[in-house]
Amino acid sequence: MSDWQKDAWRSKPRVQMPDYLDADRLNAVEAQLGKYPPLVFAGEARSLKAQLAAASRGEAFLLQGGDCAESFAEFSADNIRDTFKVLLQMAVVLTYGAKVPVVKVGRMAGQFAKPRSAPTETVNGVELPSYRGDIINELDFTEVARVPAPEKMLQAYTQAAATLNLLRAFSTGGFADIHNVHSWTLGFTDGAEAEQYRDIAGRIQDTLDFMKAAGMTAETAHELGSVEFYTSHEALLLEYEEALTRVDSTSGQWVAGSGHMIWIGDRTRQPDGAHVEFARGVLNPIGLKCGPSTSADDLKVLMAKLNPENEEGRLTLIARFGAGSVGEHLPRLIKAVKEEGANVVWSCDAMHGNTIKSSTGYKTRPFDSVLREVREFFQVHAAEGTIPGGVHFEMTGQDVTECTGGVRAVSDEDLSARYHTACDPRLNASQSLELAFLVAEELSARRNCRAQAAAV
Ligand code: PEP
Ligand code: CO
Repeated sequence: MSDWQKDAWRSKPRVQMPDYLDADRLNAVEAQLGKYPPLVFAGEARSLKAQLAAASRGEAFLLQGGDCAESFAEFSADNIRDTFKVLLQMAVVLTYGAKVPVVKVGRMAGQFAKPRSAPTETVNGVELPSYRGDIINELDFTEVARVPAPEKMLQAYTQAAATLNLLRAFSTGGFADIHNVHSWTLGFTDGAEAEQYRDIAGRIQDTLDFMKAAGMTAETAHELGSVEFYTSHEALLLEYEEALTRVDSTSGQWVAGSGHMIWIGDRTRQPDGAHVEFARGVLNPIGLKCGPSTSADDLKVLMAKLNPENEEGRLTLIARFGAGSVGEHLPRLIKAVKEEGANVVWSCDAMHGNTIKSSTGYKTRPFDSVLREVREFFQVHAAEGTIPGGVHFEMTGQDVTECTGGVRAVSDEDLSARYHTACDPRLNASQSLELAFLVAEELSARRNCRAQAAAV
């Protein structure tokens, strides 16, 4: 975008961003980050965009998931590997059901900054600024911990770089080879959903054996031996985003170097605000969270700003209304998209509209509500004749107890056992897989419906 400047967001109203007290320290960090290499490259962002374009046409399906907030304390190779593993498992199940490629996007390697519903938090009569993610301040409930420190951006960058390095190694270094489809289950799955997964893995293995017997070429084997995996996060902390935004030397376009896909949160999507101003100028695929307060008119303005060329794969609308509310809100937005003839990927975030406080005081999400929202999302698209293009979840490969329910029922009382999230409650490995089966069912029902319609 030729008239766009990467710092133009600075003159727009901003919300949900910290006020750094020491401008010199902030400037020094920004200068430093500006010299660091970008984490991702324009060509990668373009190839993700092309895959999302396929998802918008129903020829691929987007799976986006990971932590609500990545944390410095929980950073480890095992955590990264386990989340990656569960995403691969989910992708196998979805591919099997949908019979189309699954576009795999982690909420990883940059998902550090958090919007909050209140600027302060009060505990036992003490009021302190809210925690805004490890890239900004600290979770500890002390005055010092809650002061935003710009240097945390450098630590976040380093962690993101190391995370991405490991993800790239896992994607291409043999780990994600489809021939290993059985081994991705090892260690943490038992029960009904694991059994079902093993069944699919067995069928895939049979197919691979058959292909080998039938003389599969080295070229095809190579494709099956690696996986394309992309990163994404909410582009909330714009000083960090701006510093990593670079010109793509081949096209002269701007690219956000912080992650392949970035999204705008439900609280920062003001059409004339700083976050929209930033996102509109970079070539990356952009996500836009759409909550109950998103009006059809705002959506039209946002689509025009964020995707003026109506490019396929550029814009993913991530609906997050809550179970029981999809039918009330989604049709109005679908209508707006139809009226504009806009190209979008419709994705379903079945987490953020379903957060409640448990009887034991923990922030949680009932697994049943998550399932229900996904079902409602598919129902509305079936009724409207539009394409459900993807799903968006907060999940982890760890056996946490943060969301209630699932086949290995987590109760309100169980939540305290392994509640590790730095922010919102995540699905654990077993709940994630269970959910993938439900989505796969919906996708295969949709496929059968379309096949029947085509036959008459
Ligand atoms: C999130 O994805 O973690 C988030 C805060 O979402 P939303 O902006 O939709 O509330
Ligand atoms: Co969240």
